[in-house]
Amino acid sequence: MAEDQAGPDLSQGLSLAELPDGSKLVGHVGDEQVLLTRQGSDAFAVGAHCTHYHGPLVDGLIVDGAVRCPWHHACFDLRTGEAVRAPAFSPLGTWTVEQRDGKLFVREKRTRPSAKPRAASGGPNRIVIVGGGAAGFAAAEMLRRQQYGGEIVVLSSDDAPPVDRPSLSKDYLAGSAPEEWIPLSPPSFYSDNSIDLRLRSAVAGIDVGAREVALAGGEKIPFDRLLLATGAEPVRPSIPGASPSDVLVLRSLDDSRAIIERAKTARRAAVLGASFIGLEVAASLRARNVEVHVVAPEQRPMERILGPEFGDFIRALHEEHGVVFHLQRTASAIDGKQVRLSDETVIEAELVVAGLGVRPRMGLAESAGLRVDRGVVVDAYLETSAPGVFAAGDIARWPDPHSGEAIRVEHWVVAERQGQVAALNMLGGREIFSAAPFFWSQHYDIPINYVGYAERWDEIAIEGSIAGKDCLARFKRDGRTLAVASIFRDVQSLEAEVSLERESAT
Ligand SMILES: Cc1cc2nc3c(=O)[nH]c(=O)nc-3n(C[C@H](O)[C@H](O)[C@H](O)COP(=O)(O)OP(=O)(O)OC[C@H]3O[C@@H](n4cnc5c(N)ncnc54)[C@H](O)[C@@H]3O)c2cc1C
Ligand code: FES
Repeated sequence: MAEDQAGPDLSQGLSLAELPDGSKLVGHVGDEQVLLTRQGSDAFAVGAHCTHYHGPLVDGLIVDGAVRCPWHHACFDLRTGEAVRAPAFSPLGTWTVEQRDGKLFVREKRTRPSAKPRAASGGPNRIVIVGGGAAGFAAAEMLRRQQYGGEIVVLSSDDAPPVDRPSLSKDYLAGSAPEEWIPLSPPSFYSDNSIDLRLRSAVAGIDVGAREVALAGGEKIPFDRLLLATGAEPVRPSIPGASPSDVLVLRSLDDSRAIIERAKTARRAAVLGASFIGLEVAASLRARNVEVHVVAPEQRPMERILGPEFGDFIRALHEEHGVVFHLQRTASAIDGKQVRLSDETVIEAELVVAGLGVRPRMGLAESAGLRVDRGVVVDAYLETSAPGVFAAGDIARWPDPHSGEAIRVEHWVVAERQGQVAALNMLGGREIFSAAPFFWSQHYDIPINYVGYAERWDEIAIEGSIAGKDCLARFKRDGRTLAVASIFRDVQSLEAEVSLERESAT
């Protein structure tokens, strides 16, 4: 039997007793795998795999008529198949379901009506998006999904169209994802949707009063609504010898390509920094058989975000794969292929990569006179202090209803979801950004999922076993769960997301 014909043939009928209310199962219709679920008197049949990275939706969670993906929490409407929350954008296929004689029969696949842009009557004529990354792409996609018929101009200083940035430190860097998988959409997406994507177009200034942006070359582009989504840039080490050609950083596709090129001949690499990017780079370089030394000032990797128990686990995991740690030390100088540490140790390395964190790119917002406070300050609708100018992604500091604090995070899914909400609000909507922050990180075959936001906590309650790679840790303050980190507890991670959302809605 072909893999896509696994499970029962759903066109032949399934008795209601085999699918109790609230349950879901996977079968096939022809060559396609289909998820069938009963929700009260309704039954829904949709594609069985997430359109992001093919996550198995049968292992996800159904909430309020939508299925959430177990891997990175994308969400699809069961009735329409629409990807209502990033990181997925493409809809699931949907099938009609007939109930007859106590049985469910999955019938024909529905065809999706093609969305026709409406004329921009009364709304903004031109929306300009500064930034061709996660938030900028998600906003442009959502504007067209909403059938916005006005002009969309995306100005990006990148050389490449929007890419799947998380893969640049993981599968792509490790050599297990080909370059065709890296763009967020095929090149035709922009022309098919009349999105004027201008690459290598750095914006040099914004005149909020005149409602126009100026490109570095002098061209002025007027806007009716503006989205700032300029992301963040990697921090470079300020130590002797750390020239850009000797110490590589990782933000763009070109950066990832440059590391791959050097890794082809490097025997040993030094990675400066033991947080997410540094350790993902370490794991990917190990997959390329490069010897890896990680240098970082902290006692345990990722302790500040995930606590000491996860920190010890992550260290042990990387050591099992051959990574050598130099913790509680920093690099003090680079001399060609030698990295000198604060304790005078010298690491001979043909490749040096810095993963020292990022700084939000706020220069444009600051010089335009927008309110900034360790990020571009936005309200619950993601609008900045200038009416009609919105900000999303790594630069935005927003009032998070879950923690009750104004926060700024550097998470892929948050940036995309903020881009989506900003798009709705640029069209006149009043949508509050209320998604619980979510991120994932991948180390070898171990995914770590994190939902919520806990900058400080007074208790970490751990269920299961971190060392056994099956656990859920609740980060609590004053008895209240602020965030949850998990390994292979996907449904519980989704449940935590739902309860954070419900808690803040009440
Ligand atoms: C290698 C890597 C791996 C990551 N992995 C994960 C992960 O696993 N999980 C996770 O949650 N997060 C991850 N992140 C973080 C995540 O990618 C970011 O949070 C996200 O990309 C932020 O989106 P953004 O739209 O704010 O910025 P970006 O995606 O960085 O996009 C910013 C865009 O703005 C453009 N720009 C900047 N200034 C200007 C200007 N003046 N004019 C025109 N254009 C400009 C840039 O060229 C770029 O196109 C990772 C980041 C990196 C670099
Ligand atoms: S595979 Fe479903 S959200 Fe990533």
